[in-house]
Amino acid sequence: MSSADTATSELIAQRHVAADMLWVLETRRSVPPQQLDLPAPSPEQLRRILTIASRVPDHGSLVPWRFITVQGEARGRLGAAFADAYLRSDGAQPHEQAERTAARIRDTFSTPPVTVFVVSRADAAARFPEWEQTLSAGAACMNLIVAASALGFAANWLTGWVAYSASARKILGLSEQERIAGLIPIGTSRSAAPERPRPALDDIVTAWPADTGSSEHA
Ligand SMILES: Cc1cc2nc3c(=O)[nH]c(=O)nc-3n(C[C@H](O)[C@H](O)[C@H](O)COP(=O)(O)O)c2cc1C
Repeated sequence: MSSADTATSELIAQRHVAADMLWVLETRRSVPPQQLDLPAPSPEQLRRILTIASRVPDHGSLVPWRFITVQGEARGRLGAAFADAYLRSDGAQPHEQAERTAARIRDTFSTPPVTVFVVSRADAAARFPEWEQTLSAGAACMNLIVAASALGFAANWLTGWVAYSASARKILGLSEQERIAGLIPIGTSRSAAPERPRPALDDIVTAWPADTGSSEHA
């Protein structure tokens, strides 16, 4: 095979991969954590997912995020710790409702085979704007979900009480400056995820300059 032939077949192979990737992006849907089951990503697959999650645009190479993984028996312990903290928190609702919410929090962590916390370390004193560092953490969340989806797993980008609670932050060992950008359960979907309406492009895309309908040259 000539080197030109090799280059052509490599290009064709890359196009196949790219077409598969577009299909993953066009069909990806979130799956609730309670519907995520085994099989889980293998240790090698999880490393690959996290490597892809860390390969995001990052102005100034500040690495303004980190990851915390929860697997195995730690899932139940973490879920119980969060549920307990919720029930003791000031914002807890009337008894029955609070118990239901606490059970949901417990299930969110004990059911999915893996959860990854994407922790934003955005620093207002850094060389580049805090806003851009926060955006980079969001990109890490999305890359993580896309990588998991491309490997055939389902995932979901969640926040909720855990992400904003001081006691939950303490349980996770976050520093003062760190915030949870997303907690992302990963697993295999027990059932097909329902589609939801997507925005019509005409509602969200405009060209500049705006077409005002009147012609300046008329
Ligand atoms: C920053 C962020 C936080 C979110 N937090 C939650 C959450 O706590 N609970 C929830 O049900 N959905 C949450 N969502 C929405 C889901 O991730 C998901 O986008 C939604 O269920 C729609 O599904 P889709 O990803 O298939 O479009 C959050 C999304 C973002 C971007």
